[in-house]
Amino acid sequence: MSMLFSPVTIRTMEIENRFVHSATYEAMSNEKGEVTDELINRYKTLAKAGIGLIIPGYLYVHPAGRAVRKQAGIHTDEMIPGLRKLVEEVHQHGVKIAFQLVHGGMQTSKAIIGQTPLAPSSGLRNPMTFDKCKEMTQLEIEETIQAFSQAARRAAEAGADAVQLHGAHGYLLSEFLSPFFNRRKDSWGGSDEGRFRIVKEVIQETRKVIPDEMPILIKINTNDFTPKEGVTPKIAKKYAGWLRNVGIDAVELSCGTFFTFHVVRGEIPSKELMKALPAWMRPLAKLQFRKLRPQCSFVEAYNLAAAEIIKPELGEVPLLLVGGMRRLSHMEGLVERKYTDLVSMSRPFIREPLLVKRFREGKAEQASCISCNKCFAAIANGLPVRCYVDGLPPL
Ligand SMILES: Cc1cc2nc3c(=O)[nH]c(=O)nc-3n(C[C@H](O)[C@H](O)[C@H](O)COP(=O)(O)O)c2cc1C
Repeated sequence: MSMLFSPVTIRTMEIENRFVHSATYEAMSNEKGEVTDELINRYKTLAKAGIGLIIPGYLYVHPAGRAVRKQAGIHTDEMIPGLRKLVEEVHQHGVKIAFQLVHGGMQTSKAIIGQTPLAPSSGLRNPMTFDKCKEMTQLEIEETIQAFSQAARRAAEAGADAVQLHGAHGYLLSEFLSPFFNRRKDSWGGSDEGRFRIVKEVIQETRKVIPDEMPILIKINTNDFTPKEGVTPKIAKKYAGWLRNVGIDAVELSCGTFFTFHVVRGEIPSKELMKALPAWMRPLAKLQFRKLRPQCSFVEAYNLAAAEIIKPELGEVPLLLVGGMRRLSHMEGLVERKYTDLVSMSRPFIREPLLVKRFREGKAEQASCISCNKCFAAIANGLPVRCYVDGLPPL
């Protein structure tokens, strides 16, 4: 039996196999941020296929941290019944579920949150909307830390097996970790220790309010690939050691922010993406996409080289590796040779929700996703996530 189908334990959470559904925004929530039947059905299908751990799309922890319009929230207790329904559906198939908690930071817009987006430092603009952002006050930082821990408490009350802090992709926690976004000189910035402080306090505060056996995971960047230096593998390695010291239970390694296209390497569907942008931004975006195309082209397991640098610092803390995992034999080799403990995928499951079942039954040797990224362009345009390889409907 392949190592990929052997169980693994994160803290006390026993996962049946090494496959993880990496968090994937569905664009299926309603205005209030509640989960819908459409969203639940998506995970019902994925759970039936026997993925070990499912992490649904990012859930916002605070109204000011809503990143996109059709995003589900975990910001009030009213969200708990809907989230519980989602958990129960997934559990029916013996699959574990972790809720990913996010604050959008500057990667949102005033149109969505009704106020100027918050960030560690002012000065930068959201590359998609060009919205300005505001430097957070001490009070706002403290309120945000509580928002994360309260969201984790709600996740526990909804029956989730774990929470995952979203510390990657240029959202708020990722911004705090990054020298590119975080230019503060106070104790929330100024050094790698300062930039790490918010993550450390979120973990500590969360641990106080969730059951002792419940794991806290985090997703961080190996590399921000921002226009000027942000998180690099060297900094991420330091963070990995500190995460271990503060008691993190597992780390997922990813990369990139909204400033580039490294998160989802592959094609850049510029025509479809430009439809999501205001008309005046399109000529500039077209040039930008052309410039980014060569550096963002698809590479199998594109976070692997950085993960090799970072993993030793994690010690026994399990690693989830995401980004360009496609071939079964390759993933198997990575787990067998201990490059990673679990393999995490997003786009392959959008195209083939039953992929793990097909792997298990020997009916597939690799994912058929071609990383065309039309799914990504679709959600940017508010369409529900699915495979749009044959094109998006007229927008
Ligand atoms: C449509 C779409 C939505 C995504 N939403 C999220 C999300 O909510 N949270 C997150 O951490 N990453 C998100 N990602 C990134 C994926 O989790 C993953 O890190 C990335 O797609 C690379 O993995 P892959 O090559 O297996 O797709 C999203 C990716 C796509 C394509």
